Amino acid sequence: MGFIVQSKLVPSRRPSLCCCERFSLNEIEVNSAQLPGHVALIPDGNGRWAEGRGLSRPEGHSAGSRTLEKVVNLCMRLEIPQVTVFVCSTENMNRSPKEISVLMELISEVVQILEEKPLVRLKWIGSSVHIPEFLRKRLDIVTKLTSKDKNPHEYRLQLTMAIDYGGRAEIADTARRLAVDVREGKLDAEAVDERMFDEYLRSESVGDPDLIIRTGGQKRLSNFLLWQSAYSEMYFSDILWPDFDEKEVAEAFRWFATRKRNYGLVK
Ligand code: IPE
Ligand code: MG
Repeated sequence: MGFIVQSKLVPSRRPSLCCCERFSLNEIEVNSAQLPGHVALIPDGNGRWAEGRGLSRPEGHSAGSRTLEKVVNLCMRLEIPQVTVFVCSTENMNRSPKEISVLMELISEVVQILEEKPLVRLKWIGSSVHIPEFLRKRLDIVTKLTSKDKNPHEYRLQLTMAIDYGGRAEIADTARRLAVDVREGKLDAEAVDERMFDEYLRSESVGDPDLIIRTGGQKRLSNFLLWQSAYSEMYFSDILWPDFDEKEVAEAFRWFATRKRNYGLVK
């Protein structure tokens, strides 16, 4: 205890933020060198949070989207380079049409907020089969607007939203892309190994998270980043996502700082 967050970047490049100015960085008490470079979030528990308050599930999602904004703001403030959020799985898309439509509206609102946040680079992964046209368009616009080509040198958090996403589908899609390149003679089948598979997969997705945080009490991945999570540290919290405030995030980062990552070696 007692560490103070030290900036990895010069102060003038620190993002200036709105929502969490009240939150003192000192409370994180973790040296920036021990912070995860890539955090993946499985925000679970919106429905139970709402039910516990006599509210509707959509109201739980609405509270959840405010929490997401705060957590992303905090990560920006800590200059964490990459955050990937499991916004909704392909399986989630089978929920009631009303719940899905509220979810899509909320995602669209969050994306619109990002448009006004010049320090976030948006990326989205997943299938576009179930995503309504208005959201797909907005995702495309904001992705282009915030892309690396526009501001190549500035600090930017890469925020990846996994929408209508499934880890197995992503692996199958990667295998298909490799097979097509082999068929077209661009690639020798014998050359396909773990490293090449990883390259193909990450070209359309994200790299390996250092830390995966799941809220809401369940201890499973639910088909999220199956390939990429091989060596991720996993933090499970019983707190329902709308209640996962900056102090809870700090707790997760403090826990991460205590992990000894030896990737199967003896260290
Ligand atoms: C997570 O909360 C948000 C999404 C899946 C979009 P849930 O809606 O799964 O909440 P619970 O698990 O029913 O409480
Ligand atoms: Mg759930």
